[in-house]
Amino acid sequence: MEVKKYEIKEGLTIFIRPLIKEDRKAFVKAFSKLSDKTKQLRFLTSTEALSEKEFDYLVNVDHENHVAFCAYYSKNGEEIGIGVARYIRSIKKPNTAEIAITIIDEFQGMGIGKLLIQNIVAFAKQHGIEKFVANAYYLNNTILNIISKYPYEITGSSDGVLTIEIDITHGKRD
Ligand SMILES: CC(C)(COP(=O)(O)OP(=O)(O)OC[C@H]1O[C@@H](n2cnc3c(N)ncnc32)[C@H](O)[C@@H]1OP(=O)(O)O)[C@@H](O)C(=O)NCCC(=O)NCCS
Repeated sequence: MEVKKYEIKEGLTIFIRPLIKEDRKAFVKAFSKLSDKTKQLRFLTSTEALSEKEFDYLVNVDHENHVAFCAYYSKNGEEIGIGVARYIRSIKKPNTAEIAITIIDEFQGMGIGKLLIQNIVAFAKQHGIEKFVANAYYLNNTILNIISKYPYEITGSSDGVLTIEIDITHGKRD
């Protein structure tokens, strides 16, 4: 499994690689650090907590139809989770997948989301995905900023949540 290393800023080195089920403990820990606002932006509901079953689902990815990449740093030999980007392939349209991403609050705005997206887009393209679908609040400038680097189309809107189709075959960033 390829692990990529990035120097984010002085003193902060992060790693990005596919998520594996052994990451469950770090994943649960990182989830507990998310603010209500971040959880709301990611899950589009006021998610207080996730059930054990939901955590199982989110870490037991198959690297083909349910794919996730994680970002972490290392402290005293422990891998500390920073964020996850994942996609779930559509059964009906196998060249399309729904994407979601979360970075824990204290690491937002440092370019890590962008790196996770670059990694997952590159992987997706190698695995036959051409289009990502994202659901995002219309005021979520950060994710809209990332999406706008690719050709995209807003295909739906409900209660302030936009459904956006992104053509990942023509992005500038990968
Ligand atoms: C959206 C999210 C994943 C982005 O990750 P991030 O690491 O914070 O973003 P980055 O630092 O990589 O920045 C990405 C781009 O947004 C810009 N940006 C960063 N913070 C911003 C803000 N508050 N407002 C507007 N633009 C912002 C950056 O400048 C960068 O654009 P650039 O490439 O033109 O410089 C992260 O903020 C997050 O987890 N938010 C809460 C959950 C969420 O919204 N998920 C998306 C819905 S699925």
